[in-house]
Amino acid sequence: MRPVTTSRTSLPLWIIALIVFGVLAILGITIGLLVHFLAVEKMVYYYQGSFKVLDIPYNRNYERETSPENNYVSKILETKMVDAFQRSSIYRQYINSQVITLVPESNSMTAHIWLVFKASRSMKENTRRRIESILRDMLSDHSGSLTTEPNSLKLVEISKANAEKIINNRCGRRARMSATYDRVKGGSSAREGEWPWQASLKINGQHYCGASLISDRYLVTAAHCFQKTLNPKNYTISFGTRVTPPYMQHYVQRITIHEDYIPGEHHDDIAVVLLTEKVLFRNDVHRVCLPEATQVFPPGEGVVVTGWGALSYNGKYPELLQKAPVKIIDTNACNSWEAYNGLIQDTMLCAGYMEGNIDACQGDSGGPLVYPNSRNIWYLVGIVSWGVDCGKINKPGVYMRVTAYRNWIASKTGI
Ligand code: ARG
Repeated sequence: MRPVTTSRTSLPLWIIALIVFGVLAILGITIGLLVHFLAVEKMVYYYQGSFKVLDIPYNRNYERETSPENNYVSKILETKMVDAFQRSSIYRQYINSQVITLVPESNSMTAHIWLVFKASRSMKENTRRRIESILRDMLSDHSGSLTTEPNSLKLVEISKANAEKIINNRCGRRARMSATYDRVKGGSSAREGEWPWQASLKINGQHYCGASLISDRYLVTAAHCFQKTLNPKNYTISFGTRVTPPYMQHYVQRITIHEDYIPGEHHDDIAVVLLTEKVLFRNDVHRVCLPEATQVFPPGEGVVVTGWGALSYNGKYPELLQKAPVKIIDTNACNSWEAYNGLIQDTMLCAGYMEGNIDACQGDSGGPLVYPNSRNIWYLVGIVSWGVDCGKINKPGVYMRVTAYRNWIASKTGI
């Protein structure tokens, strides 16, 4: 038998301590990461759903996204949803909820909804069930003016990309923007994606006018923007908060100027532009809503004008898109002797301040004057057209009144 020699020396105590410490540290970090990953870190989840609203006589106007009927019912349902979620136990996870479309049937309609919540990964399934039960309770509650059917409720999770696509295909909505915009005296720089319908109309690559995207191929702008040349080949349309470099650039196929526009005069200063190719909508590039011809925008209403026009009369031009909060001015007041002394027609609209200061200016022409309705959906109410100087006392900006040209736009574009 061979004698066994135990020559192995045992490890010093400090090495053992080090190994134990190392193992514990790795274990701790792993558990910490796992807890953070599953329970602490909040993920954003998107949902699409639908339910039935009963006892509503058929009216095809419900389907049209800008009709008063659609806005009326959508607003009621949206208010019901916000209230339900904000009064619930998951109010802290709630981010947004909207009615996307209404589909009328013979004596009822289906409302398609869109929801955003945040939740930790481990609570995801639980959150989904809570959302469903809150909505079901809301639909069973018939204290309001609408009868809703709780058993018709459907709810599925959708990807972020699909959720954004749904919003970007609707007019006048912004997927990422909060419900409010900053009211800043004078103009201030726009944030990325804040005015996704704003375009720059360029002549030979130089910014010349503003324009607004109203579908995936049409824009509206001012007729006087085409004084230099009528050849579509000289123009490009670009999107993005910077004129250079833009997010994307498009070519012009056709320019349609209002038949009654007379160069040098101020009336009927409107044109539509058809692009050679479709615009692919994305968060920061999509269309604005057109108001119905009958919609009224009363004096005093807050609106916003945006553009890359001069910062002052004959002054510098900005790099970044500017926004200026203004107010609709009563046409009679605007026609007063101190102001425009009768030059303002019914097809025009004054916006700004009689005290001056905040106004559109040279290079803003053709661009949008927009109004957010109570659902925070943005409508094109005016097209920058003319004014005396910029921001002068009693000389507010004058815009083409889009409601007056709503049927003309439809006749040229089918929109
Ligand atoms: N006509 C000018 C243009 O071509 C726009 C005038 C707007 N003026 C004003 N004060 N709001 O850009």
